[in-house]
Amino acid sequence: MDKESTGARIQTNTVNTDKEVIRRRLEMGRTRFMITTVKLREQRKTHLSSEYDISQYDLLQGHRFPLETSRLIPSNTPEYVDEGQKYVERIMRALSFFKQCALIGPSGTGKTHIVYLVAELAGLPMWEINCGLQTSSYDLFGRYIGLGKGNWIDGQIVSWCRQGGILYLDEANMMRQDVATRLNPLLDTRGHLVLNEKDNEVIPRHPRGYLIASMNPFSAEFAGTKPLNAAFRRRMTVWLNFDYLSVGDKLSAREVQLVRTRGGVDEITARKIVSAAAELRQQYKSGDLPYAPSVADLMNWGKLCAHGVSPTLAAQETVVAMTSDSVEIQEMVQEVVNGVFNRR
Ligand SMILES: Nc1ncnc2c1ncn2[C@@H]1O[C@H](COP(=O)(O)OP(=O)(O)O)[C@@H](O)[C@H]1O
Ligand SMILES: [Mg+2]
Repeated sequence: MDKESTGARIQTNTVNTDKEVIRRRLEMGRTRFMITTVKLREQRKTHLSSEYDISQYDLLQGHRFPLETSRLIPSNTPEYVDEGQKYVERIMRALSFFKQCALIGPSGTGKTHIVYLVAELAGLPMWEINCGLQTSSYDLFGRYIGLGKGNWIDGQIVSWCRQGGILYLDEANMMRQDVATRLNPLLDTRGHLVLNEKDNEVIPRHPRGYLIASMNPFSAEFAGTKPLNAAFRRRMTVWLNFDYLSVGDKLSAREVQLVRTRGGVDEITARKIVSAAAELRQQYKSGDLPYAPSVADLMNWGKLCAHGVSPTLAAQETVVAMTSDSVEIQEMVQEVVNGVFNRR
């Protein structure tokens, strides 16, 4: 062997060894990262669990999700505030007894928020579908890609069915009839899904496959909403009603506190912001407004006030413009706000 080729071989070996070292380091880094993430998650879970009385409900029952799926377990969800209704506990109980439940309440009452929180607390991956968007059945159930039958890709519902976690059907009353019909066997004692697209493969529902549907009873006047399919309705054993923390004459001290601490405003301003919101929400519930502010919208309104913007201008830029594009409706909202802030 001549000198040159020996040199080349040594060089190749060195490159391979370097690659190996880098690969090992990356692997060690990844393992360390995973251990830290798991530890942080556990610490947070312990902290949150002490806030909600849920230790008796174990939705995982020793199940471990593979890495790919465990990425879908939510983290850092903010706390859900209620006034003693114990929504987190009630959802956990419903899932633990019946595997599924429905949340019903106006938009902005924290339905999506609480589902993420429950998923985080229970350690379950989230599969979220907004039924109001015309998601194709390819995205929901799956499809073949390319030619031939070799390459099938599972859609959201099929992935949940195989892997478990929480399937969250947002705006379930806007679900297409054909999709609702296909979900029925999944939700009753049959507990399986039939994939007609894939030679009628029968997929059993994963033992840790939970389902939560949510809907807004006040959206009936908006396009696209139908009364919920009766067969689907019957299959939801537990129904939980959600409402705003403050609405009409009811002013919640906890909501005022949230706006004060997270918006950064003083008690009096927070109180006025919440009273204006309570009135707007009342009007929304009686059908006079197309939208009512959530507590998050109020925090944003507060943040601008805390920055020195006048509360009425801050409202104009946030809750007023958010309610509608219509000038008349915006004026109605602004009047409510001005009324509260100019009141003595
Ligand atoms: N009770 C609550 N506690 C904490 N945050 C809330 C509460 N209700 C609503 N929010 C916040 O208000 C916003 C709207 O809530 P969301 O979950 O999207 O409502 P929904 O799904 O009912 O329309 C979110 O940012 C959410 O965090
Ligand atoms: Mg929502």
